Amino acid sequence: MLSWDDYEEAPNNAQADQAVIADAVQKQMAAEAAQAAAAQRAAEQQAAAARQAAAEREAAAEAAQEAAASAPAAVEEISAEPVSTERVTVDQKAMINCRADLNQLVPFKYDWAWQKYLDGCANHWMPQEVNMTADIALWKSEDGLSDDERTIVKRSLGFFSTADSLVANNLVLAIYRLITNPECRQYLLRQAFEEAIHTHAYQYCIESLGMDEGEIFNMYHEVPTVAEKASWALKYTKEINDPGFTTGTVDTDKTLLKNLIAYYCVLEGIFFYCGFTQILSMGRRNKMTGTSEQFQYILRDESMHVNFGIDVINQIKLENPHLWDDEMQASAREMILEGTTLEVGYARDTMPRGVLGMNANMMEEYLQFIANRRLAQIGLTEQYPGVKNPFPWMSEIMDLKKEKNFFETRVTDYQTGGALTWD
Ligand SMILES: [Fe+2]
Ligand SMILES: [Fe+2]
Repeated sequence: MLSWDDYEEAPNNAQADQAVIADAVQKQMAAEAAQAAAAQRAAEQQAAAARQAAAEREAAAEAAQEAAASAPAAVEEISAEPVSTERVTVDQKAMINCRADLNQLVPFKYDWAWQKYLDGCANHWMPQEVNMTADIALWKSEDGLSDDERTIVKRSLGFFSTADSLVANNLVLAIYRLITNPECRQYLLRQAFEEAIHTHAYQYCIESLGMDEGEIFNMYHEVPTVAEKASWALKYTKEINDPGFTTGTVDTDKTLLKNLIAYYCVLEGIFFYCGFTQILSMGRRNKMTGTSEQFQYILRDESMHVNFGIDVINQIKLENPHLWDDEMQASAREMILEGTTLEVGYARDTMPRGVLGMNANMMEEYLQFIANRRLAQIGLTEQYPGVKNPFPWMSEIMDLKKEKNFFETRVTDYQTGGALTWD
């Protein structure tokens, strides 16, 4: 920029200097005017850009609002899979690999699944409601129980206290995602809560009896016949527990089917039965009656879990007959027989001698009877023809309706549907 100081050094040529100065001033003013005009144009451009940006922001906000109000966009946000936005019909629903909107519970395709959800809710109970006073006194008295009876109580609590966590984790972290039917998922949520109640019940017994919690909760690592059962089940969780695992091919669909057989037919359907029978036999002899009552409630729930799982397995077979080929049938049979062998090993380990009116050979026969039943339930032939149930009282004790004095009023408090049926 020009400055008056630039011209003070030539005072003798005043006129010429004035012309130069006037010219310089004019130039200066023109330059300043041009600058001002440019600044104004820039300011106008800036304002226009700001107005446009504000308009764009407003439009984006409106679009986001519209998107939030429409279900498909919301569904896309929470679903890993592309989801149809159509209204769901019964025909579109399927047990696995379904692409219909899973947030729409109705119309029901599997009424049996919804009925089991209602029955499960009607059977609600909590561990703290069972009186443990007699058990505490008996457990603490020196000659209240024999050593073999004590071993049975500890092993049962040791196995079950972690087994129900294995089941719950498999349900929530693996199966739930892969079963693509809302009414079945509704039951799975109910079952998952029941598994939490069962783990709570075992913890409640362990705490009430003042047992060494570290010893009991670590049996599934430390006691071989308990650890073998847990690790047998866990190997069927490994692959489908991977968040990247999806069904949709013959191999992956079969992997899911094997997991369902492992957990419903074997873990809940066979591995629970030696311990249940031993503890309930104790209760029938008026020993550890509180623990036995807890187990009786748990057995009622577990029986429904098994029935639900078998219905799911059979429905998958019905909808995908190509999965139930010779290889799959042979695998299913092998799994059930392996499970039976492990449970017989557990029975021999926990009953080296006769105890509570039973022995390991009787338990083996009972487990073969149960294995026959599991095989038949999924459409396979029985492995042990002619085997009889040596503990017919187990079938009866499962049905609370037949136990007239068994917490009759308390059970009624919870009942809303009145459904307590067993097959
Ligand atoms: Fe359970
Ligand atoms: Fe269960």
